[in-house]
Amino acid sequence: MTEERKKVSLGTLFDKMNAGEPITMLTCYDYPTAFFMEEAGLDILLVGDSLGMTILGYDTTLPVTMDLMIAHAQAVRRGSPSAWLVGDMPYMTYQPSIETAIRNAGRFMAEAGCDSVKLEGGAAVADRVQAIASMGIPVMGHLGLTPQSATALGGYRVQGRSAAQAKQIIDDARILEEAGAFSILLEMVPAQVCALIHERSSVPIISLGSGPDADGQLLIYHDMFGLYPKFTPKMARVYADAGQAILGGLKQYVEDVTTKDFPQRENWFRMRKSAYEELNQELD
Ligand code: KIV
Repeated sequence: MTEERKKVSLGTLFDKMNAGEPITMLTCYDYPTAFFMEEAGLDILLVGDSLGMTILGYDTTLPVTMDLMIAHAQAVRRGSPSAWLVGDMPYMTYQPSIETAIRNAGRFMAEAGCDSVKLEGGAAVADRVQAIASMGIPVMGHLGLTPQSATALGGYRVQGRSAAQAKQIIDDARILEEAGAFSILLEMVPAQVCALIHERSSVPIISLGSGPDADGQLLIYHDMFGLYPKFTPKMARVYADAGQAILGGLKQYVEDVTTKDFPQRENWFRMRKSAYEELNQELD
């Protein structure tokens, strides 16, 4: 076990940005993974509503609820006391009204020990971002492919390929920053658009499939380790095929139990001979 590290703060993130040191960010949904991410020294952990797909097997993120997100965020916080923790606001927990947005953002902070929240959208949610930030809750913006609006965006595809669309995303980034977002995540926008936003912004820009010209990089954990059976997006780098390793182990277990190779002596417990004799006497 490595030494406990200092808590990642907003200051840490801005210092990294100013020093040109890339910020590391991954999605995380559970205690053991958070524990390993803490050990690995990740800066930011995002408890993403992508857990609806990666953990629960839904086709979209829309069915995810606030209670579910809180339970996962609590587990992640227990595993990683020092990373900067972002709670992802699920569908319809900030869209209906400013008050709904503040209440739900507050739940992430009070109930799960999050450091900040993230919500999707640009100008349309700027009033939510402004209201949450003015309550002292740091907010990360999310532009480009915003999965909660995937249907309206034509599916899970690159956003901002045309000049008009790209201009809209650049304008949205400025509006979010002016509304008080402490950071902006760009998901699947062309690398040139990400670079233009990065040049113009004074808050950390995080890229998910949006190229290298950003202050930090994000990947979905399940994509990195071959753990999402439906597909692996092109933008992901696969660091280890844990999915195949697990499948191999599961098949071996079925084989071992079937052939009675498992369990072996080291896999079970026995009572002392005297206690066993006493038990038999009682049973007689
Ligand atoms: O839910 C999530 O994991 C996200 C990422 C796709 C950015 O919002």
